[in-house]
Amino acid sequence: MNEKEISLAVIKRLPRYYRYLGELMENDVVRISSKELSERMKVTASQIRQDLNNFGGFGQQGYGYNVEYLYTEIGKILGLDRRYNVVIVGAGNLGQALANYTDFEKRGFMVTGLFDVNPRLIGMTIRGIEVRLVDELEEFVKSHNVDIAALTLPKAKAPGVAADLVKWGVRGIWNFAPTDLNLPSDIVVENVHLAESLMRVSYNLKNREWEHEI
Ligand code: NAI
Repeated sequence: MNEKEISLAVIKRLPRYYRYLGELMENDVVRISSKELSERMKVTASQIRQDLNNFGGFGQQGYGYNVEYLYTEIGKILGLDRRYNVVIVGAGNLGQALANYTDFEKRGFMVTGLFDVNPRLIGMTIRGIEVRLVDELEEFVKSHNVDIAALTLPKAKAPGVAADLVKWGVRGIWNFAPTDLNLPSDIVVENVHLAESLMRVSYNLKNREWEHEI
């Protein structure tokens, strides 16, 4: 099956398979049945089989899945078999927190630049990454083959900066600013809104309280 036809729901589950398989590899597990994987991941074995069948299965009857092979193949599907150059625009609380996080690099996402408008932050380094003035962003993006930009700047500034980044060649936007960006359809935009996730927690809490009341 063409990868383009795979449902978004399946694609969204792949990082979780990838994480579990990575942990299995760390624990020297060589193979695993869909039943065992399902018990660990708390998804049905049939869901696992269906999901992985989208990519030709990778499993063998009576053997289960070869953990390393499956991990590698899912990594390829997720595009993790290459490196990405990432810049962070907005070096405030969130931008600095992202820059401090080392696990992105383990997955091939190399944070190469950190940009801000605030002159007081310029020259500061986070894990060796220097904060630069946003005026240098265009030149940096063009000369460093920047693939992805994380936007951790105020929401009023995000759409304009995103449009500039796209104009300069960035194809992936990881948007933390609570605003819609309206970029061309060939640009990959992933919005991360912690507040929305928190609202789902409050929704679920509220419904449980309600269940307890009756
Ligand atoms: P902050 O105020 O600590 O940092 C924002 C930084 O952006 C500042 O250093 C500021 O100088 C810089 N900045 C302003 N205009 C800029 C421009 N044109 N170019 C480059 N840098 C510029 O704010 P914080 O807490 O780090 O939040 C950053 C953004 O992330 C905000 O839009 C906030 O609403 C959002 N946010 C999103 C969350 C999420 O779950 N997606 C969670 C927390 C914050």
